[in-house]
Amino acid sequence: MSNDIVLKTEHLSIQFGGLRAVDDVNLEIRRGELYGLIGPNGAGKTTFFNLITGVYKPTSGRIFHDGREITGKTPIEINRGGIARTFQNIRLFNNLTVIENVMVGLANQIPCNVAQSIFRLPRHKKSEREFYNKALELLEIFQLAEYKDYLAANLPYGKQRKLEIARAMATSPTLLLLDEPAAGMNPSETQELMDDIAFIREKFDITILLIEHDMRLVGGICEKLTVLNFGTELAKGQTAEVLANPAVIKAYLGD
Ligand SMILES: Nc1ncnc2c1ncn2[C@@H]1O[C@H](COP(=O)(O)OP(=O)(O)O)[C@@H](O)[C@H]1O
Ligand SMILES: [Mg+2]
Repeated sequence: MSNDIVLKTEHLSIQFGGLRAVDDVNLEIRRGELYGLIGPNGAGKTTFFNLITGVYKPTSGRIFHDGREITGKTPIEINRGGIARTFQNIRLFNNLTVIENVMVGLANQIPCNVAQSIFRLPRHKKSEREFYNKALELLEIFQLAEYKDYLAANLPYGKQRKLEIARAMATSPTLLLLDEPAAGMNPSETQELMDDIAFIREKFDITILLIEHDMRLVGGICEKLTVLNFGTELAKGQTAEVLANPAVIKAYLGD
């Protein structure tokens, strides 16, 4: 496999009882791409992320990240291997501060016992300070530094979404998976977020796979798209071609 390919799935499928939630999906994402995964509600988009990140084991098919097979690995192994994600429903540690949430992301990158000692033992104070400074740098990039001591729960919704992305970036991914990051945002927050996403791709030199329900939204920033419908690939390719595909329009608009 060319080492230009960051993520590849081969005949990836999962069945829940009689439902084929993801059905023979063959995806190939190249290094540096901002790739969109779109499709109507219930199409299998989130389930696809759950397969890539090891939350679900596929019924059949294989997954490769940076040329290595990751099928069957655990979520923590996959994250340490360089894939980070955010969730359709925000998952933050609400009772930790903004900066602590990012520090948790940083700590994910090292084995548990080391993380515990860094946070608990005085002789690791220096490492803790390094973590703190690194977390602060990330917050600055995401324009969240001024909120660093707020409890995550007290951040406005749009900023919670950004914090989740900052925390994912703290795990130093090569591939970032974003599950409907604009869900629940107003149009100006959404535009700002799309700009941020394009910016972090450049800044961190990463590859991004973006799930979005609203197909107009992805048109602006994704170079390529895959459209899922009832778990299967309805269309894929360059964004403009995919969005003009009558089958895609029909899947969105109905008859
Ligand atoms: N753990 C599960 N058990 C049973 N069915 C599931 C499970 N997870 C998802 N599904 C079903 O799989 C289908 C795809 O869901 P999902 O991936 O969440 O869609 P999307 O993210 O595209 O809206 C839906 O019909 C959903 O109900
Ligand atoms: Mg979903």
